Amino acid sequence: MGIQPDLETATSKLSIRGYLNLPVPPKEELVSEIKRLKKEKNAVLLAHYYQNKEIQELADYLGDSLYLAKAAAKAEADMIVFAGVHFMAETAKIINPTKKVVLPDLKAGCSLADSCPPTDFKKFKELHPDAIVVTYINCSADIKALSDIVCTSSNAIKVIESIPKDQKIIFAPDKNLGRYLIKETGRDLILWDGACIVHEAFSFEKIITLFKEHPKAKFIAHPESESQVLDVAHYVGSTSGLLNFVQEDDANEYIVATEAGILHEMQKRAPNKTFIPAPVEDDTCACSECAFMKLNTLEKLYLCLEHELPEILLDEELMIKARLPIERMLELG
Ligand code: 13P
Ligand code: SF4
Repeated sequence: MGIQPDLETATSKLSIRGYLNLPVPPKEELVSEIKRLKKEKNAVLLAHYYQNKEIQELADYLGDSLYLAKAAAKAEADMIVFAGVHFMAETAKIINPTKKVVLPDLKAGCSLADSCPPTDFKKFKELHPDAIVVTYINCSADIKALSDIVCTSSNAIKVIESIPKDQKIIFAPDKNLGRYLIKETGRDLILWDGACIVHEAFSFEKIITLFKEHPKAKFIAHPESESQVLDVAHYVGSTSGLLNFVQEDDANEYIVATEAGILHEMQKRAPNKTFIPAPVEDDTCACSECAFMKLNTLEKLYLCLEHELPEILLDEELMIKARLPIERMLELG
C-alpha cells in the first residue's frame, strides 16, 4: 500500500506520529508562524473545501479535488503541503514527483478509498477482462495503477462520455456516484460496491421534513450521496459545482448535502443567503463532517511545515503506473 513508505520515513526520524507531540507556538501566533514557514520554506498550501475554516483561510489554493490536482501538477514551490486527505496528497506526489509533498496528519484517510482494497479490486477487474477501468480520484495509488482513466466528481460525466459507447466500463470505487453516472449518461457501468460514510449518513426522511419547514429553500447534493437523496435534489454537483450554483441561482436558502466545511466558502461567496446543512440519520454525532478531513488542525499544519513531516513517498514503478490514468484525465481539460 502507498501509505507504508510514509510511515517508515516518519518512524526513522521520530516515532510514528511522534512529531505531533513537538512544541507549537501559542494559539495567537500560529497563523503568523505558518505564514512565515510557508515563505521561508518556499511551500505552497493546497486545501480542500472540507478543511476547517482556519486552514481554508490560509490556503494558497482552495478548491475541489480536480482544481487541487491541477494546482499540484503545476506547483513550482519546493514543498506542497496538502491540507486534505491521503489520496489527495498521494495524487499530488504522483503528478509532481520531484516536489516534497507533506500531509499534516498521515491518518487523514478516506472511507471511500478504504472501501476498495487493491487485491480484491484486481480480482474484480479480472472478471471483466474486456472492460475499461474508470476510477474516481478518491482511491489509493494502487487502485489508480490498475485504472485506465481517473475522474473526479467535477468531470466524471465528461470522462464517461469520452469513452466509445460500445465499450464496457468498470466504475470504482463509489457506487453512488456510479449510479448517478448511469442515470446521467445512459451507460451501463459495472460498479464496485464502495461508498463514503459521510455522504451516506444523510437522512432522506429528515431532509424531506426539513424541506417542508423551508419550502422556499433549494436542496443541493454532492453525487456521493445515495440515489434517493439525489433524486429529490434541485441540483447535484461537485463541491465547486455546488458553490457555483448557489452564487448563480436566484433562491435565498439552500439545504446542503455534502461535508459541512463547504458552508464556510458558500457563506463567503453568497453572504446574504442562508445555508442549512442537510440532517444526518444519527443526531448524536457530527456525521456530516468528515472525521478524516478534520484531523488536520492549525497545530498539525505548523508541525508539518516546521519538520517537513509526514512526507508522502511512493515506489517509482507504482507512481509511473498511477500517473498515466491521472494524466489522461487532466488532458481531457
Ligand atoms: P470533490 O472535491 O470532487 O467535490 O469531492 C468531494 C470529496 O469527497 C473529496 O473527498
Ligand atoms: Fe473520503 Fe467521504 Fe471524507 Fe471525502 S468526505 S474524504 S469521500 S470519507
